[in-house]
This record gives sequence, structure tokens and C-alpha cells, in this order.
Amino acid sequence: MSERRRRIFSAPGKLVVAGEYGVVEGKPAVVVAVDRRARIFVEAAQTWSFAAGPGATPVAISEASSFVRACFERVEAVCGLPGPCAVTADTRAFAGAGGKYGLGSSAAVSVALVTALLALCGRRERDLVFQVALAAHQQAQGGGSGIDVAASVVGGALLYAPPARLELVPIPPGGELVVAWSGASASTQDLVSAVASFWRDRPDRRVAFLSQSEGCAEAVASGLRAGRWEEVAAALRSNQLLLVELGAEAEAGIDTPGLRRLVEAAARVHGAAKISGAGGGDCALSLAPVEVARRIRQEWSAQGLAVLDLAIDPRGAAEELGAEPDLAPATSTRGDRMYLTD
Ligand code: MEV
Repeated sequence: MSERRRRIFSAPGKLVVAGEYGVVEGKPAVVVAVDRRARIFVEAAQTWSFAAGPGATPVAISEASSFVRACFERVEAVCGLPGPCAVTADTRAFAGAGGKYGLGSSAAVSVALVTALLALCGRRERDLVFQVALAAHQQAQGGGSGIDVAASVVGGALLYAPPARLELVPIPPGGELVVAWSGASASTQDLVSAVASFWRDRPDRRVAFLSQSEGCAEAVASGLRAGRWEEVAAALRSNQLLLVELGAEAEAGIDTPGLRRLVEAAARVHGAAKISGAGGGDCALSLAPVEVARRIRQEWSAQGLAVLDLAIDPRGAAEELGAEPDLAPATSTRGDRMYLTD
């Protein structure tokens, strides 16, 4: 540990903009990192321990979640472990009173933890953080494309295709992400399994989906690069139709009444919104010029839908160097910081 008493590492959550499901099969997808960050606090201690949240009872690493254990195992295999620390995670930004939003909290917390452990070993290479966090996350989750890990490590907007295609996509000036929660949390793994089993029976439908999904993701990326918003909107609409069709064919419940309300409300004000990620709940989003984004947000709010206050986060996984002075007041009870002083 450095002479500083406590260190804080963080990584952003993510939202898939286009190409979900295709990316599991190696096709490209567009993803954005969002400014809901998982935080990891580390402090030198007599033994290793992990607390799953502020105020949670610390447990030995062997008793922690499979994601945490996998991160420790994978870092240890690369560089051994540094001297023992008490580790606390904070993923409160990823859920509201009604449940999780589906912003990739398990990937973000894995990336923040791997960033922390590697940094304590003096290793800060971004490629290494990505490889180790990806291996740990896939080990614990039993698969996945790694798109959430990529967004959490790098930040910003990315075109990602496993295993190695990773391109930054610039968001044209005046572009904005607009996001709302459908009112229900979803299980990505169950939906991905249902789709995989459908595709095993219907390889012809798999081939057709993958080609169209790739087209949507590439069109979103090229529309963003060129600042052609009509192209982005058209690709978002096509991708939405593709996901709804996949859900119906695979009987996978990708589309839900909550998601449909969001997409239809955006369409009423000429916005192009779509399911983000596996569907079955979680969020819908649009990426649009400010004026269109404002209309969508207004319409969603007018319908009583759960607009989320978040934006694209250009910053990937990082140590929060500026945070240390905030630790000073021993009696602080300000929101997120409260548990730092107990
Ligand atoms: C989930 O956010 C996106 C999926 O493509 C799953 C994955 O990429 O691992 C459905």
C-alpha cells in the first residue's frame, strides 16, 4: 500500500446500444460506458476480507461471491497478491428502490476490483486489466461476450467484437444518451441460454440474425462517426425490430410490456428507442441529437416512466486520486461517503 491510508478504484457501468446477442457469437456491437460507477475501497489490514457493500459484514475471500473469488484467483495467477487488505465494494448506483437497472454491475465491480488488486501489485496496463477481468468475469458467469467488461475498462463509446476488436466510436457534438428503466430487472443469462437453445434448433435463423445484427451495429457506428443521425436512428429501429422478432421466435420474453411502452412512447415523438442488452426488463435507450433526446425524455416523464439520470462516461476504470481529501471529516454522513468514516 502507499502511505495513503485508503485507496479508491472505480469502473463505469454500461449499456449496449446495438448488436446484443450477436456479440455473444463474435459479431460486433456498440456499447457505451455510463456514469454509474462501481467503487472498490481498499485499506491495509491484518487479513484479507471483502464487504459486499457499505456497512455489509466483511467475509473472508473464500466466502465472497464467485465474481470476487474469480478476480482474486486470476490476479494471484498473474502477479501474486499484495499484503492483505480490507476491501469494500459499492454498487449502489446500479439499482433503485425497485431493483437493478441492468447496467452491468457485476462486470463493473469485477473490473474495479481487478484494477485495484493489480495496481496494488504495481501493474496498471489497461490490456492486462481487460484480460484478467474478462477471464474472471467469464469464469464466474459461465460465459458472456465480455462487452460489459470492455466498456468498464475503457469507458466512452466502443465498437466491440470478441475476442479482440475494440474501437472507440466518437459521439458527435450535440448527441445525447437518453435512458429509462422498464420497471423490472432481467436475467441476462436465462435469456442468452434460451436464445442459444433456439439457435441450436434453427441454425438458419441464427445465420440470418447474426448478419442483420452486425449490419445494425456497423450502421450505428458509422452513423456516429459521420455525425449522420438519420442513419443512427434507422439502425436503432431495425435493431429493435430484430430483437422483438428474435424474442417471439425463441419464445424468450425479450420484449416486455414495460420495454414496449418506452419504445412506443419515443416513437410518438419521432424518436428511435430500443431495448438495451438482453431485454426481459432492464432499460430502453436512444442515442440522438439533444433536441430529439429532450423530446423523448419529456414524453417518458409525461407517461410516468422511469427516466434515469445518466450520461456516457468517457472515463474507464481508474483510481480515484482526487477522492482522498473527502475522507477527512470523521463525522461525515453525506450519502455515498458515509461508510468511509465508520
Ligand atoms: C447483455 O447486455 C448483452 C448480451 O449480448 C449478452 C452478452 O453480450 O454477454 C445479450
